[in-house]
Amino acid sequence: MTSARIGILGTGSLAAAIVTGLSRDVTDPPEIVLSPRGASTSARLAAEFAQVRVAADNQEVVDESGTVLLCLRQGDLGVLDGLTWRAEQTVVSAVAGLGHEELARVVAPAAQVARAVPIMAVATRTWATPLRPALPGAAAVFERTGGVLPVETDKQFDAIYTGLGTIAPLFDYLATIEAFLVDHGLPSDGARTLVAQNISAALGPLGEASAPDFAELVREHAPVGGGNDQLATLLRQSAVPGQTRAALDEVFRRQTSGRWAEAGGNGSP
Ligand SMILES: NC(=O)c1ccc[n+]([C@@H]2O[C@H](COP(=O)([O-])OP(=O)(O)OC[C@H]3O[C@@H](n4cnc5c(N)ncnc54)[C@H](OP(=O)(O)O)[C@@H]3O)[C@@H](O)[C@H]2O)c1
Repeated sequence: MTSARIGILGTGSLAAAIVTGLSRDVTDPPEIVLSPRGASTSARLAAEFAQVRVAADNQEVVDESGTVLLCLRQGDLGVLDGLTWRAEQTVVSAVAGLGHEELARVVAPAAQVARAVPIMAVATRTWATPLRPALPGAAAVFERTGGVLPVETDKQFDAIYTGLGTIAPLFDYLATIEAFLVDHGLPSDGARTLVAQNISAALGPLGEASAPDFAELVREHAPVGGGNDQLATLLRQSAVPGQTRAALDEVFRRQTSGRWAEAGGNGSP
């Protein structure tokens, strides 16, 4: 039945995670139709899951689906211009940087449009996907992959994108600690393993916590006069937290093309 079928345009890493979450070890997985680009990923998913198939082209994905997920890279969005949509369709975009108004324009006359922030953890159904607005057709998809976090305003939604795209600098930080250990004679492999296990032991439990208090965790990990305490103090004195915030504000400004123009992104929703 077309209305219940989920179509995906852009069959890359994110699409693979969503399809896996919707399908693996699920007794009643939804029918899914994939765009053909990303050929090896499409073929692998269709071979693994019986209710998944690959369309001949992008228009077939749109024609055969009630809900269409956009998992394209921002630079490939031009492909949407040539597609014909139906008014009753739900379209959900996971594309960073594509604002709601622009999304609605490129998929008109489809009237049910939403934006979502799934991450790779949807594959294991361990991520509640931020969704705005939480339209029934869109929520129905992500309720199957770990749940939905309804987002109230466009500004909040845009900030979530910026706030979650913050993992690469964390690895820079870990690489700095690795280099310190190597400079003091540890073999690189051993240093990397040590750093990884240390951070994993500290961060692992956060995945289970509903609203961890980061200021309290700093206190817990920084007994007065210890190395953690001194390092945190030295980094604050070097303005590292302030510079991190300034960098976040700059990324936000660029990603939203200045839509929320005030300093800190505090424009009205
Ligand atoms: N990965 C994440 O965790 C994540 C999380 C949230 C949001 N996002 C957003 O999701 C989008 C996809 O990310 P990704 O990591 O999955 O990227 P990706 O792995 O590069 O996947 C994009 C896919 O789109 C395909 N494609 C390119 N042109 C196409 C066209 N004209 N028609 C149909 N398909 C086309 C590509 O095929 P080819 O390989 O053949 O070029 C590729 O398979 C991005 O906008 C990203 O910002 C990703």
